[in-house]
Amino acid sequence: MRIGVFDSGIGGLNVLKELLHRHPNLEYLYYGDTFYLPYGEKSREELIKLGVRIIRFFEEAHVDRIVIACGTCSSLIEEYKKYTEVPIDDVICPTVEYTKKHYHKVALLATSATIENGTFEKKLKQAKIEVEPLSCPNFVPYLEGLSEHLNMDEELKSIYHKDCEAVILGCTHYPLLKNEIEKSLSLPTIDMGKVLSEAIKLEDSKPMLHIYMSKVTPFLQRNVNKILERDILVIEKNLPV
Ligand code: DGL
Repeated sequence: MRIGVFDSGIGGLNVLKELLHRHPNLEYLYYGDTFYLPYGEKSREELIKLGVRIIRFFEEAHVDRIVIACGTCSSLIEEYKKYTEVPIDDVICPTVEYTKKHYHKVALLATSATIENGTFEKKLKQAKIEVEPLSCPNFVPYLEGLSEHLNMDEELKSIYHKDCEAVILGCTHYPLLKNEIEKSLSLPTIDMGKVLSEAIKLEDSKPMLHIYMSKVTPFLQRNVNKILERDILVIEKNLPV
């Protein structure tokens, strides 16, 4: 079984890592749209346009299933489904299901696009979970090497003393800041990649892994090896918009 996994950059590797751990005997194609990141500041129309060309790339590679390893694009799963027959999974639905089983009130940290779009928050509220949403637009540029400083306590201070029981890392980049977030808020975090990889049902096949990004730098290559804990050459492939 061949799975296409995509995100704006290295964030989705946190999802891929969990999938590789839970379902090692599969063929994975990863696409990180590093040329166009951050996705979290893009409009709905731009995100649909960018996502659909990745879906086409995966279709041409004959994937059997697509995993949207991006919180921002996961809000738009219903839109993407209109463009393909390939089954698509997102990270929001399994996260809501998981949260419902364990918590009553959570903080939701995500990109500006995810928070403004409101789909994630709405789904949590429909599941009777109280939510304190917070957009964190400085996290992704910091993690992708586009900015140098991040003051975590300052970023999160608006959700201090809100009686949350846990924090949803609502953007797949954020597990890379898990320790800092847990320390600042003294709360456990919910990792969408872990939740998805436990919830998804996949058939075994031949293990194989290919990583594509629309822009590759030495910083990015080092990060990929570090996150996946293996040496794998990232192939630069910029898809026309
Ligand atoms: N990792 C993505 C998400 O889960 C997108 C981050 C970005 O490019 O802004 O939302």
